Amino acid sequence: MTQDFKGKVALVTGASRGIGHAIAAELARGGAAVTISSRKPDQIAAAADELRALVPDARVLAVPANTGSDEDRAEVVRRTVEEFGSLDVLVNNTGINPTYGPLVDADLAAVRKIFDVNVVGALGYVQLALKAWMAEHGGSIVNIASVAGLRSSGVISAYGASKAALIRLTEELAWQLGPGVRVNAVAPAVVKTKFAEMLYNADEDAVANRYPMKRLGAPEDVAQLVAFLASEQASWITGETVRVDGGMLATGSL
Ligand SMILES: NC(=O)c1ccc[n+]([C@@H]2O[C@H](COP(=O)([O-])OP(=O)(O)OC[C@H]3O[C@@H](n4cnc5c(N)ncnc54)[C@H](OP(=O)(O)O)[C@@H]3O)[C@@H](O)[C@H]2O)c1
Repeated sequence: MTQDFKGKVALVTGASRGIGHAIAAELARGGAAVTISSRKPDQIAAAADELRALVPDARVLAVPANTGSDEDRAEVVRRTVEEFGSLDVLVNNTGINPTYGPLVDADLAAVRKIFDVNVVGALGYVQLALKAWMAEHGGSIVNIASVAGLRSSGVISAYGASKAALIRLTEELAWQLGPGVRVNAVAPAVVKTKFAEMLYNADEDAVANRYPMKRLGAPEDVAQLVAFLASEQASWITGETVRVDGGMLATGSL
């Protein structure tokens, strides 16, 4: 079911492809004007064209920006409010994972970068959205976490620790920003995007078979949940992290 976002303005970060793009499409389908951002200017412009083709009459603004940059985040929020007049829904979707393996060997520069983008960048967008609109008018924020933030993986450990921090940030912010602003998170397991390719490319059937639902996630599985949490239908839900994992954590493993 498509949620109603008529008259609302949404910002989705990391949205040139994958989960972010599907979220932007779902919000646009519901009638929201949507700003999308990611680093590569040509790809974010192409993504905006795709959204306009997918959703007739969609109002889409594409702003190239690195979520890890203070200046870029400020520019994205400034241009959103300038173009559309408000900022009602923020989806912190950008997430990076440049390092794998034992934490004892982790490159600290890479770990710092993970936290800077996945956690500090998300908080930076929250601060800007509040100042620009939400503190006065209210709003809804959804952070894209991961099952790796809820359970140890042994492999994507620094990334998992950053997503755990994002989940804690979600609860803290929910407490501090209510009742005007709701803050929730979602925790997906493996979703078929470029980001996760190396986790399933070698043998997708074998990976999918470990899930009670016997398939991997699609970006739309996450997008529909995000749209629900961002919508008025979820008006008494805040501080929550909802798993969207095909049942993976119910099996007791990750
Ligand atoms: N796919 C999964 O299995 C899975 C599972 C759990 C959680 N997640 C989370 O879901 C979110 C989206 O992942 P995805 O799978 O959709 O990834 P994806 O398909 O690789 O897309 C990532 C998007 O983020 C942008 N991006 C990357 N680094 C950025 C930065 N520093 N600043 C701004 N934009 C940036 C990319 O464009 P540019 O490269 O042009 O910037 C692209 O638009 C992430 O937070 C990820 O941690 C994914």
